[in-house]
Amino acid sequence: MSTNYCFQGFDTVSLAKDYGTPLYVLSEDMIREKCRSVRESFLNVYSNTEAVYASKAFLTKAMCKIIESEGLGLDVVSGGELFTAKEANFPMGKVIFHGNNKSLEELEMAIDYGVGRIVVDFEEEIGMIESLAKAKGKKVNCLFRITPSIEGKTHKYIMTGQKDSKFGIPLELESLKALVDKTLKSPWITLQGFHFHIGSQLFENHIYDGAIQVIGNLAKELKIHQGMELQELNVGGGFGIQYRGDQKTRSISFFTEVIMKSVKNTFEGLGLSVPRIIIEPGRWIVGEAGITLYTIGAIKKIPEIRTYASVDGGLPDNPRPALYGAKYDGVIANKVQEEKTEVATIAGKCCESGDILIWDLKVPKLDSGDVLAVKNTGAYNYSMASQYNKIPKPGVVLLSGRRANLIVKRETYSDLLRNEEVPGHLEE
Ligand code: LLP
Repeated sequence: MSTNYCFQGFDTVSLAKDYGTPLYVLSEDMIREKCRSVRESFLNVYSNTEAVYASKAFLTKAMCKIIESEGLGLDVVSGGELFTAKEANFPMGKVIFHGNNKSLEELEMAIDYGVGRIVVDFEEEIGMIESLAKAKGKKVNCLFRITPSIEGKTHKYIMTGQKDSKFGIPLELESLKALVDKTLKSPWITLQGFHFHIGSQLFENHIYDGAIQVIGNLAKELKIHQGMELQELNVGGGFGIQYRGDQKTRSISFFTEVIMKSVKNTFEGLGLSVPRIIIEPGRWIVGEAGITLYTIGAIKKIPEIRTYASVDGGLPDNPRPALYGAKYDGVIANKVQEEKTEVATIAGKCCESGDILIWDLKVPKLDSGDVLAVKNTGAYNYSMASQYNKIPKPGVVLLSGRRANLIVKRETYSDLLRNEEVPGHLEE
């Protein structure tokens, strides 16, 4: 038995040695476990429901295969995510295409591929979809994303349900009625229902009640005035996970029980039939299934101020601390048996003072060459990575039972320059 920090039965120090650092490590078993609990606690408990994984959290072709085999759908938000799903032969009928500024090319791609639903986010999109659908002779299923004017308690940058938001169609009854009218008249668009997404990293389950009530009232109005029968309501994602501190990861049923009860009470109370309910968890599925391994290099002790231990990655592979003040936990993988006698601030290697991964982490005595494992980095790390300072993106290793497979190769310096050209006049 290894004395090093083990993740899913793998010695992380050996993984660091075998694949190099920084390295994203993801557990297939943990992802599958989360999907299973979505099935067992939600899909199998309530009829007429769907679960769609929000692929922006982490998307590769291998991830598409896992999600497909677990029976979940896929939420994509760009041509690139859509292309990834297509290349992985993901069943297109189970894809939901989002985006607050989809281009004509992206919409065309979605219609050509035959995605299950397009979520309309702005008025002009209806005309764009209609003319493409007509030209191709294909009928398109749509949902309208509605801004419910509900503020989720989370970081400002990942709140989306408030009135002042770039996402969704504003909740103005008269203009909404006109849009619905226009869509219902179109022979090329089927308006299946509505979508809302309050925000990300939410811990309150009752926050969904208000938005469900908003949609219920809207559905009632539209039924009375337009005869529209709401078939589907997509309540988005946002289920939070624990990073560091006191906010604990909750079970999926903590959220879905309240959502389903609220839908039933609201719709039945208004004399409406209960629509099909779709959820879109991203972070909750994959966030805790990933860690990132780094090697510690420079250690700087500023007397009476702090110790900075710098790692070989940072902001380019995890921009979340710099962007949202996100807090992570980490362990010195080769010293888990040692007493934590010191406090160090884990800095990245970028030319930015804001490139700090973890402030004030309790650690054993550090040495250059130690391996740091940062926990819960499965969501929005690889997918948000950049090449700032021309630092190649790390590879991704997938742990599946006793096997480890590289599912994304580490970038090379040549990869960084692959698309660059030097104009002739600069070559002399
Ligand atoms: N559905 C829609 C329409 C969304 O916009 C999102 C996330 C989700 C579902 C999934 O949310 P989740 O269950 O993962 O919270 N980069 C940020 C998160 C941005 C989330 C954007 N939309 C972060 O690192 O915290």
